Amino acid sequence: MSRALATTTANASQPVPAGLDPARLPAHVAVIMDGNGRWAKQRNLPRVMGHREGVEALKRTLRLCSDWGIGALTAYAFSTENWSRPGEEVSFLMTLFERVLARELQALEQEQVRIRFLGDLEPLPEGLQRLIADATARTAANTGIHFNVCTNYGGRAELVRAARRLAERCAAGELDPAAIDEQSFSAELLTAGERDPDLLIRTSGERRISNFLLWQLAYAEIHITDVLWPDFDEAALLGALRDYQSRQRRFGGVDPC
Ligand code: FPP
Repeated sequence: MSRALATTTANASQPVPAGLDPARLPAHVAVIMDGNGRWAKQRNLPRVMGHREGVEALKRTLRLCSDWGIGALTAYAFSTENWSRPGEEVSFLMTLFERVLARELQALEQEQVRIRFLGDLEPLPEGLQRLIADATARTAANTGIHFNVCTNYGGRAELVRAARRLAERCAAGELDPAAIDEQSFSAELLTAGERDPDLLIRTSGERRISNFLLWQLAYAEIHITDVLWPDFDEAALLGALRDYQSRQRRFGGVDPC
């Protein structure tokens, strides 16, 4: 791509492609990575091959978001409902998470990525829990893109956990129930400190939120693409960002005259 046709934002390390307004990029992109199984089936491969290829798509997306100065990427890697998949697939996914994390940690550190895993991490295999704790600690002070991997994550469970924590603080006399507001509630969510996603991308054509970031997506723009997640590439991300920039965000208000 010609640099003359592109512009660099304050946080970007690479020029933002022509046709995108660098001043109106989403600060936070969330993604439901759907279609790995179908991608594999189309190629007569076992479903798990789709997950393996899905990792490459996720790495591509993270690099592009980071290069273009997008502040945060949150990916739905494993939902609380995904335990109901065949045992072999669940084991494959857990091992895949471990391998990818071990393999990529050094690069994440060098590229200033701050990685966090959002969800109930206790039921995960102990080896994976240790890797997660290590990766989180080692990248906590990084100044680049925030990369949130939702693992054993469920939006309803997250809301219930927040309500319970607030109730406990009220019962302990630390908090006045009348003082609970949207700010104090969102401070109890797993995403505390992260701004809400501006854009949700869902691949493979499904039109559902699937228990993902139920509170945080309240005002997100939603981009649905038929592209299967393993095929999600620069062109597909550009398509999502162009779609986002074509929207009028009103946050419940009206268009300015
Ligand atoms: C949904 O496709 C995808 C998943 C449940 C797994 C996503 C996980 C990855 C891409 C790996 C991420 C790795 C790390 C280390 C963060 P599906 O299986 O539901 O596809 P289908 O709808 O076509 O069956």
